[in-house]
Amino acid sequence: MQTLYVELGERRYPIFIGSDLNPQSLLAPYIHGQQVMIVSNETVAPLYLEHYQQSIQALGKTVATCILPDGEKYKNSEHLNLIFDALLQAGFNRDCTVLALGGGVIGDMAGFASACFQRGVYFIQVPTTLLSQVDSSVGGKTGINHPLGKNMIGAFQQPQVVLADMSQLDTLPDRELSAGLSEVIKYALLGDSDFLVWLEQNMDGLVQRDAHLLAEAVYRSCAHKARIVANDEKEQGERALLNLGHTFGHAIESYLGYGEWLHGEAVAVGMIMAADLSHRMGWLSADDVQRTKNIILRANLPAVCPKIPLDQFLSYMSHDKKVLNGQLRLVLMKQLGKAVITKEFDVELMKQAILANQR
Ligand code: NAD
Ligand code: GLY
Repeated sequence: MQTLYVELGERRYPIFIGSDLNPQSLLAPYIHGQQVMIVSNETVAPLYLEHYQQSIQALGKTVATCILPDGEKYKNSEHLNLIFDALLQAGFNRDCTVLALGGGVIGDMAGFASACFQRGVYFIQVPTTLLSQVDSSVGGKTGINHPLGKNMIGAFQQPQVVLADMSQLDTLPDRELSAGLSEVIKYALLGDSDFLVWLEQNMDGLVQRDAHLLAEAVYRSCAHKARIVANDEKEQGERALLNLGHTFGHAIESYLGYGEWLHGEAVAVGMIMAADLSHRMGWLSADDVQRTKNIILRANLPAVCPKIPLDQFLSYMSHDKKVLNGQLRLVLMKQLGKAVITKEFDVELMKQAILANQR
């Protein structure tokens, strides 16, 4: 098992990464009160709930559960309320812990519920998708969707601890594994050319779910995220780098309708568009763009998106959270492994980069 810490002063917390981790011993120091609400969904609960329930009960804690339907479409206020209902029905108090057992949807919802319930209770993340292990469980962004926008209602709520168990990835569908690899590739492209070389050497093993390689990829990804979050918890600056590929990706997801393409798939094409625009700006070479495409394709991710009318693509991009004072900012690459946030890009070149990477 490897451990790394998100250094946030008094709110510093560990991320435990390994296989067949023991929740009883690892979670014990981080459950402060007597009551634990495990929030999971109808897919993950039959696989892993009993193990966590028994491990925490063995610590002498009271455990209650809230099992939500599975899917991004349930990441809304109506289903958030079900978590509050469960907490109130169980009579839980201000020193209870909400434990998220699932992917990013469950992590975001359970975390937001823990931030709101009695103005804030303890929170633990047990991410069970690769995407949630490398991204959403770390850094404290929690929330729900609103009919008018994704992740528009939320709070920063850091967990007490994150427990990322590679054994749980055995049951993850292939498409979801690849979507997680997209975010892994993101860390390499935005800040670590050595990691990119490592991914090029090990992508086949990662796709075949070699647990040691997956643990190494999760560790290196979380180390990047932890460092960025420690420097810029509330996204005043550097944290926006984590959105490499996301502005283009959100346009793809929004146009196709959420659920049609997975987030990681849309981000993969978005990263190629960002690389292509960086090339057109004279920053990356044609070889760099090809390297970006190659690693994405080897992760079994798409490299082009369906045809989307340009005016609609641009309109969706203009709704991005990185728009400041009406001005779009993009995360582009000065080199592979060195991203920047910039509003200094040529809009015509951006249009070309979008059109060049559609089917
Ligand atoms: P998800 O939570 O929908 O999980 C994907 C699918 O895998 C679901 O059907 C789920 O039930 C299933 N699943 C989960 N673990 C499994 C396992 N071990 N075995 C078998 N099936 C399993 O999707 P996700 O990709 O984990 O997360 C996406 C969500 O995360 C989005 O809502 C996105 O907005 C959010 N997100 C948040 C942050 C953040 O910083 N908070 C960052 C990135 C993404
Ligand atoms: N997923 C982007 C962030 O956490 O900031």
